[in-house]
Amino acid sequence: MNVGFYRSLFPITATHIHLASCSQGALAKPVSRAIEDYQHELLVSGNNWKAAMRKAEEARERFAKLIGAEADEIALVASVSDAISAVAVSLSAGAEKRKISFTDIDFPTVGHIWLAQESFKEKTSIIRSCHGEIPLEQYEQDVTADTLITCIPHVSYYNGYKQNLEEIARIVHQKGSLLFVDAYQSAGHIPIHVKEMKIDLLTAGTRKYMLGIPGAAFLYIRKELAEQLKPQITGWLGQNPSSTFDIERPMFAAGTRRFETGTPSFISIYAACSALNLLLEIGVEQIEADLTELARFTIQYGQEKGLHLIGPANLDQRSSLVAFQVGDAAKAEAMLRDKKVIVSAREDVIRIAPHLYNTQEEIQHALDELAIVLKKI
Ligand SMILES: Cc1ncc(COP(=O)(O)O)c(C=O)c1O
Repeated sequence: MNVGFYRSLFPITATHIHLASCSQGALAKPVSRAIEDYQHELLVSGNNWKAAMRKAEEARERFAKLIGAEADEIALVASVSDAISAVAVSLSAGAEKRKISFTDIDFPTVGHIWLAQESFKEKTSIIRSCHGEIPLEQYEQDVTADTLITCIPHVSYYNGYKQNLEEIARIVHQKGSLLFVDAYQSAGHIPIHVKEMKIDLLTAGTRKYMLGIPGAAFLYIRKELAEQLKPQITGWLGQNPSSTFDIERPMFAAGTRRFETGTPSFISIYAACSALNLLLEIGVEQIEADLTELARFTIQYGQEKGLHLIGPANLDQRSSLVAFQVGDAAKAEAMLRDKKVIVSAREDVIRIAPHLYNTQEEIQHALDELAIVLKKI
């Protein structure tokens, strides 16, 4: 990869060290131009509906390519929470099994959504982690024959712990459960192949490692499964084209498209298309290989500086998001920002989350500054 060229596409790298892709990826010039294109089309044409709908189809194809799915297996949604809610509500309506399993390392929105479903509330089971990790035996034990769906994060937002999706899929399928993966902390920098990994449902949004902006996310559901589901949150864009304008005879669209509702945030979709083109041009495998080297350095240098690593040190079990326990993380984040180092605080940790535009020297400088900051707070 021509690091210098790709790095030059991200203006923030000229003035700051941006290591917060687990929260908001840096904005690339082509992505910024795509946002302007959307505005420009409206300014000069007055109505860009057709062009915008074409862009939405382009985004659908790119999301599908990113995870090895077919375009019809992708629904464009506004956020990961919307994707999970859409699934939760439609499963509430029909399923015989009532047990829902999610993990205590999921992003909190997962629990908030499932616990809001009255019909599942009594049978919700939380798979517990040990030191931020979940051994496979825990899934063997907690996922049972009455589990309808098991929800897991691919990568923990808190400590970068990465789960073995193939093995977890094997276990939960043996028990007759569906597997729903939240890939928001992995999509864009860790390869995902839903067919090979045998994932039933998956969601991710664009503002983190996918280098987009808020307002665009996607929901993947394996086609045969999607067509058995009846969305309870729906709308005209989730309809078969023959019923889009038939107010009395709704008919769901083929595949996962049926989970769409109304007009999406086109501006976010323009950004997503451009960002995905960039990621796919470089290749997620290449990005992962480069980021693994940065993670290796972050862990080693952070420990040399006396920082306390949270999560596994083994690179096979983690993503490039490296978290150090610091106590007052919000204060450390603010103090680093004053030094033009952008990192992301969560509870008691500072997360160092590089992307394709970062260098080892930047991480070294950021960790030097973090060690100085920690002596002051
Ligand atoms: C793993 C994970 N899932 C879900 C979310 C929330 O996504 P959204 O705001 O799109 O619902 C986040 C946000 O940080 C996240 O890290």
